[in-house]
Amino acid sequence: MKNQNLSTRARAALPGGVSHELRYRDPYSVFTDRASGAEKWDVDGRRYIDFKMGSASQMLGHCHPAIVEAIQKQAERSIFSADCHAAEVEWAEWVNRLYPSAERTRFTASGTEATMLALRLGRAHSGKDHVLRVEAHFHGWHDHALKGAKPGSDQAPSLGIPGAINDLIHICAASPRAMESALQDERIGTVIIEASGANYGSVPMATETLRALHDVARAAGVVLIFDEIITGFRWSPGGRQARDGILPDLTTLAKIVTGGLPGGAICGRADIMELLNNTTERNGIAPAVSHKGTFNGSPLVAAGACAAMPLLASGEAQRQADAMAARMRGGMNTAMAEQGVAGIAYGESSIFHVYFGRGSLDGLGPAEIRGLPKPTVKAYRDGMLSRGVDMMAYTSGLTSAAHTPDLIDEALIAFGATLSDMIRDGVLE
Ligand SMILES: Cc1ncc(COP(=O)(O)O)c(C=O)c1O
Repeated sequence: MKNQNLSTRARAALPGGVSHELRYRDPYSVFTDRASGAEKWDVDGRRYIDFKMGSASQMLGHCHPAIVEAIQKQAERSIFSADCHAAEVEWAEWVNRLYPSAERTRFTASGTEATMLALRLGRAHSGKDHVLRVEAHFHGWHDHALKGAKPGSDQAPSLGIPGAINDLIHICAASPRAMESALQDERIGTVIIEASGANYGSVPMATETLRALHDVARAAGVVLIFDEIITGFRWSPGGRQARDGILPDLTTLAKIVTGGLPGGAICGRADIMELLNNTTERNGIAPAVSHKGTFNGSPLVAAGACAAMPLLASGEAQRQADAMAARMRGGMNTAMAEQGVAGIAYGESSIFHVYFGRGSLDGLGPAEIRGLPKPTVKAYRDGMLSRGVDMMAYTSGLTSAAHTPDLIDEALIAFGATLSDMIRDGVLE
């Protein structure tokens, strides 16, 4: 009842009753009261096994004691003074050590700001305004990131974005040949790629493909950005680039890099990152690339991040999360086979996705993979939520170091029961 009442109040106070459009839910949103480990409780006292994990940010589990303690201690010393402080130095040193392509790091206040700054640096370094992006890859919500972000569309999925900006953004398929052909256009100086493949890997991108895209970008001499906002600290402590040994010029990070607090980062080659240095000057402009932002690298966030870094650096947290996602994928595939449902659970690292309709993704592009009928997606998500299991978005979920085999097995019972309901209701065959 409290969820419903809060939703009614929220919809009169906030557009849609939310602060992020993906939090909207029909008939009402769920309001979280508290969270711990891999579980959370809503304002009505209902408990959920969480596979959203703070939009993939809470890799160590909700309210990890080391992070909570670090934030509490910092809050007593100084919440924010807008000065330099020691923790941001330690934090940047961690990133530079863990990310093989990182020679310098700059902190931002969100992942969106990180990709915005990366594109600005790419344009400044290349001297070219045009950017190439891969279809359906997600890079945040700023004006330069939206065109081509929606699977199956080459438009920006929002009003209010100037056509002149959209004209600077080119889109290609996630294939080396498509990228090579797009890069024939010499106006393009920057390429940005979501390191997991589109939408946290729901459209998988094989390592050979990423390597080939990297090689094509290198041959064209453009600035290559890997958006590791999902893969960073998840696919390995040094992200996908360390796991697979494929290095970009610039990397964007957020979510886990902050220990799960609000913020983001960009790291990369010193000669490009040093364009942000106040002592550099280009054409009478110093610093050559401007970057401000009141809360960048704030002490509270840096304290949480510095507490998280040692726990993320060994790879143990990632191994636990990966094993739990593999258990989830395996159990889902077994359940679908047992109930005769055509579908596949798949994904890499600590992420799992479900595709209903057939048991292979072969030959399917982003529009088909992300194009399941809305009633199917809703029935799946609602069925899981009503059984106390919350998913990330669409049909995807993520695990953390706090997920346990017992929680996974409990979630798999909910999955089996949800499948049965979907068959009974004619949503699945
Ligand atoms: C790959 C990727 N890039 C960029 C962003 C934007 O980050 P933020 O939501 O912190 O602005 C996200 C957020 O989900 C993301 O997954």
